[in-house]
Amino acid sequence: MTPDGRRIGPVLMDMRHITLRFGGVTAIKDISFDIREGEIRAIIGPNGAGKSSMMNVMSGFYVPQEGEVWFRGARRPQMRPYQVARQGLARTFQNIALFDGMSVLDNIMTGRLTMMKSGLLSQALWWGRAEAEENAHREKVEKIIDFLEIQNIRKTPVGRLPYGLKKRVELARALAAEPKLLMLDEPMAGMNVEEKEDMSRFILDVNDEFGTTIALIEHDMGVVMDLSDRVVVMDYGRKIGDGTPDEVRNNQEVIDAYLGVAHD
Ligand SMILES: Nc1ncnc2c1ncn2[C@@H]1O[C@H](COP(=O)(O)OP(=O)(O)OP(=O)(O)O)[C@@H](O)[C@H]1O
Ligand SMILES: [Mg+2]
Repeated sequence: MTPDGRRIGPVLMDMRHITLRFGGVTAIKDISFDIREGEIRAIIGPNGAGKSSMMNVMSGFYVPQEGEVWFRGARRPQMRPYQVARQGLARTFQNIALFDGMSVLDNIMTGRLTMMKSGLLSQALWWGRAEAEENAHREKVEKIIDFLEIQNIRKTPVGRLPYGLKKRVELARALAAEPKLLMLDEPMAGMNVEEKEDMSRFILDVNDEFGTTIALIEHDMGVVMDLSDRVVVMDYGRKIGDGTPDEVRNNQEVIDAYLGVAHD
């Protein structure tokens, strides 16, 4: 239990000695950390530190040259990102990745694709079954739309939405996959204060109401310190700090590399 009464469980994801190189660039150097069930785990550090690369390793998008990814107590073999997603991981991206011409509702529906059993062929053969399945999916999606308070824009093409709402739709799509672990790469970048407050509240509510474990990359230190249970600090591909917000705030190496200077 944390001081505010939330339940933190056993280790959900364990990153062990991860090293990732792009040609001559070592984006991640021998980093280990774990994420416990139910916690909000932040990853912070200066631009180019390797935070997004780490999330890409977690989601199976990049395969590290060295190291092991453990998930729910088992070593994860090399997998395609969609297979990783099926294991219960969903994410949002640093640069919004939505279908601009599609409605909010349809964009969120795509978040359920990993869970749909009926492929195109079976849909053609068993229209009834596919339809029943689609209705069930739609019901879940409507719940998420209510939860994130975006009912009034459900039919709006995403391309017409202001930035802050697009970010919220991206969160909705990730939630539609009902992930065990939700990974958010700078969900508040470019937002104004009010939008950040809304997004912070939604992240806390998701964690609280669905018990979703959350990994969060964020530059706004106020947000990180408020939301997270534990923080990993990266700098030039190395891990330079790991602990509670108070611990990393008082870590001299972290202050020198990151906290002491301004960031966007
Ligand atoms: N696909 C890629 N090919 C080559 N180099 C890459 C690739 N992705 C990342 N890098 C390099 O790896 C390093 C880490 O980049 P990464 O995007 O992970 O940093 P970051 O911590 O997310 O930074 P930011 O805060 O700016 O988003 C950088 O030097 C970057 O140029
Ligand atoms: Mg990044």
